This record gives sequence, C-alpha cells and structure tokens, in this order.
Amino acid sequence: MRIVLRIGGSVVASPSNPSLISNYVDLLKDLRKKGHEVAVVVGGGTLAREFIKAAKDIGLDEKAQDEVAISISRLYAQLILRALGKLSCENVPLTVEDALEYLDQGKIVVMGGLKPGMTTDTVAALIAEKANADLLVKATDQEGVYDKDPKKYANAVKLEHLKFKDLSRVLAENKHKAGIHQIIDPEAIKILRRKKVKMVVLNGFKPENVLCAVKSERIGTLID
Ligand code: UTP
Repeated sequence: MRIVLRIGGSVVASPSNPSLISNYVDLLKDLRKKGHEVAVVVGGGTLAREFIKAAKDIGLDEKAQDEVAISISRLYAQLILRALGKLSCENVPLTVEDALEYLDQGKIVVMGGLKPGMTTDTVAALIAEKANADLLVKATDQEGVYDKDPKKYANAVKLEHLKFKDLSRVLAENKHKAGIHQIIDPEAIKILRRKKVKMVVLNGFKPENVLCAVKSERIGTLID
C-alpha cells in the first residue's frame, strides 16, 4: 500500500519529543518491512511558530515568515530521515517531483513544508495526489475530527466516519472557529476530494494507531 503520513508538529515538535520521534522511526521501519511505501510530511510545531514570531518581530514579511517555518519543518524531517539511514532518501526533498522520484526508488520519503502560503496538510495532500496514494493518515493532537472544536466545547462529539462532501460542510459551518480549521486545512481537503484519496485523522501521540488505520481497523475519523 502507498501511504502518506502527515505527522503534526503539534505531536512531535511541541516541544521536540525525541522518544516519540524514535517511535515513529520504528513504525516506519515496520511499515516498510510489511511491504508498504511511505512518504512522511512533518510539521514544525511550536519552534516553527516561535521563528514565525521572531521573523515578524524583526519586520519580515509573511513570505519570509513562512520560509523560516518551512526550514524548521525540514529540520524535523531531517531527524527522522537520518535515523532511518539507507531506508530513507539521502536528503529532504524540496519539491513534489523529488519526493515522487525517491518514492519510486523504494525509499521512505521524509519531508517538511514546500513553499510559502500553504500548510504541511496541503503538502501531504499534494504528495498523496501525485503519488496515487491509497491512504493519507494525519497524526494529530486530537482523537479525530469533531463536530465542533473540542478544545472549546466540552460536548463536542467525535465523528467516526465522514464523506468529503460532509467535511466541506463541517468546515464551512465552523468557519470562524479555530479548532476545526486546524484539524485539516480545507485546501488539502479540496485536493483529496478531487482525487478521492482516503484519509484517516487520528491521535498521533500513539504511533501504533497508524498501524490500525493501515489495517483498516476502526480508529480516529475516516474520511472517504
Ligand atoms: P503547519 O501548520 O502545517 O505545521 O506548518 P504543524 O506544526 O505540523 O501544525 P499542526 O501540528 O498541524 O498544528 C507550520 C507553518 O509553516 C508554514 C506556514 O506558515 C504554516 O502555518 N508552511 C508550512 C509554509 O509556509 N509552507 C509549507 O509548505 C508548510
């Protein structure tokens, strides 16, 4: 199976969590052993946000702010990639094309952001689209997608299964509420919907959840 794994910066990088990063390295080796092809897209977490703020405070424009955040996400990608050694690509791919080439060579791809003005969700969706991935897993800091922001509303209900068209509605209804927006970038949803790539959003603090998603076991929120 071809899998794109989007690891939230909120999970491995807020703050940097070396033992969890090691667990992800083990998970990737395991997926590989099971014969899966995997591309990982990791975010920059709080360090990226710290750099965005520093860039802003010294008067840099949004493009430059995004660029420093991308660099931080690539540093996290580098940690995973180096730990994987020969199983992974030599360097963090800087373009979708390079990522696809490494994937075709049988390497585990590990990358961060691509260009200003997007999120790593969109990067993951683009890779999933172009690589004809069977599954996109988003490992995040919540159990899945909720009907409203679970950080704000105690009565928020986790949704087990969503259709892409329903998700567009959930996202639209929650337009002015931050949480649901952060859970998946609507730009990424547009791409996945176009290509009909199955997505699972799950709790990334338990990397073993990813294995459940790969085995089509019930975990997190399934979107198809
Ligand atoms: P994300 O918000 O995608 O990463 O990127 P994250 O830390 O994993 O976030 P969570 O865990 O889902 O909350 C962080 C920032 O990096 C810049 C943007 O400013 C984005 O908000 N970025 C990232 C880009 O400009 N381009 C990219 O391709 C990726």
